[in-house]
Amino acid sequence: HTKLDDFPENFLWGAASAAYQIEGGWKEDGKGSSIWDTFSKIPGKTYKGTNGNVAVDHYHRYKEDVKLMADMGLRAYRFSVAWSRILPNGSGEINDKGLQFYENLIDELRKYNIEPVLTLYHWDIPQALQDAYQGWESRQAIDDFNEYARVLFKRFKNKVKYWVTFNEQNVFTALGYRWEAHPPNIANVKKMFEANHIINLANAKAIQSFRELVPNGRIGPSFGYGPIYPFDSNPNHVLAALNGEEFQNHWWMDVYIHGKYPKVIWKQLERLGVTPTIESGDMELLQSVKPDFLGVNYYHGGTVRANKIEFPLKDEEQQLDKDFEATDPYLMEPKEEQAQSPEVPMFTNVSNPYLEKTDWGWEIDPIGMRIALRRLQSRYDLPMMITENGLGAFDELTENREIEDQYRIDYLREHLVEIQKAITDGVDVIGYCAWSFTDLLSWLNGYRKRYGFVYIDRDDENEKSLERIPKKSYYWYKNIIKTNGKSL
Ligand code: BG6
Repeated sequence: HTKLDDFPENFLWGAASAAYQIEGGWKEDGKGSSIWDTFSKIPGKTYKGTNGNVAVDHYHRYKEDVKLMADMGLRAYRFSVAWSRILPNGSGEINDKGLQFYENLIDELRKYNIEPVLTLYHWDIPQALQDAYQGWESRQAIDDFNEYARVLFKRFKNKVKYWVTFNEQNVFTALGYRWEAHPPNIANVKKMFEANHIINLANAKAIQSFRELVPNGRIGPSFGYGPIYPFDSNPNHVLAALNGEEFQNHWWMDVYIHGKYPKVIWKQLERLGVTPTIESGDMELLQSVKPDFLGVNYYHGGTVRANKIEFPLKDEEQQLDKDFEATDPYLMEPKEEQAQSPEVPMFTNVSNPYLEKTDWGWEIDPIGMRIALRRLQSRYDLPMMITENGLGAFDELTENREIEDQYRIDYLREHLVEIQKAITDGVDVIGYCAWSFTDLLSWLNGYRKRYGFVYIDRDDENEKSLERIPKKSYYWYKNIIKTNGKSL
């Protein structure tokens, strides 16, 4: 087979996190509440009622965490800023102690030559803005987000080069406004598309500010991308996969890169009466900016068939469908009674019979990483940074206080090999931030779904010692970085 190209010399070998999932210190030094601080306390919403009050206490232990990154040789660290630390009320009064925390973190990273990659929004809009005007349902959020972003741009423009606007807009709008699984806990497709459009405008406006304030920086969104496959070569399924790709991916990415909504999906939403309201000037704003790079969060793709209302499943296919419904937490397929949902009759999600699954039922599909990168390169032609990819698993601390996470090493290695193949194909990949650096709070799944290179001694019931223990994968990744991927 073809000899693989080396990873670029300055490849950003990194790891990632998000504020709510690691920081804790939820009320400290003037921080306001975010919608996650509130939502996680509603009984029954999160696994065993876990929340981010303490999380893994990164707020107090960031120096220790950065030291572990430095010892590992990490070249980039992606983290998010909690808006409610900077502007406790969402807008207006600036909390300097919040800014100081991130400044300290950034300085600490730079001390060890670790490139900071700063995410502006990882799902935690201030509760004050939710209370005042329903958050992303109101256009007021566009200006408030811009105000927040400008504070950070001004303060960190000389210290941070790589910026991410929104993390997985597709995921947080769907889970928050459609599936009642994340805050603001709504099940309303029309509201989802309205909020989504407003977030697109907020994204564009913030990028405009960035061009003015950080002319030498690089900015882009991080999208939760999964390539969509047809169940088989039946043209009905191939067409369904095209629909799925447009609905689940291009619907967002075409806006980010080309400032327009894909026509096929727009017409479908029109038929269903759920198109977002477009005011004069909106499309001009969306078209006025373009990201410098695409952040790609890749966990898995999806497999679809023609919708099962018009094309019922054959008997032998029933099981695939059941497996899928039983296990995928990000289920995108509407129930029969929601036949008015926009995917019907465009496609139906099913399990992929070729793929194994994680302990949480997520398909493991390294080749999908290469397919994703190839599709994105040919459609959008921008440099890409993998801003998330990793394995959520149960890890066991042995008697010798070690973690033998060979399964995580296998997972990461297989994905990195596919990235290297994509680079060899001609794709422009500038970095890879594994999810995650330390173990952290997995939103709805508590602390037992672990992703980190570094184990945290805590569980769902107890904060325990919060001791940091590097896993086997930590030492493995350290060597990958040292050899710039040659030891993969
Ligand atoms: C992404 C998010 O959706 O996937 C992360 O950006 C998240 O914040 C990660 O933790 C893994 O998802 P989960 O549900 O397993 O924590």
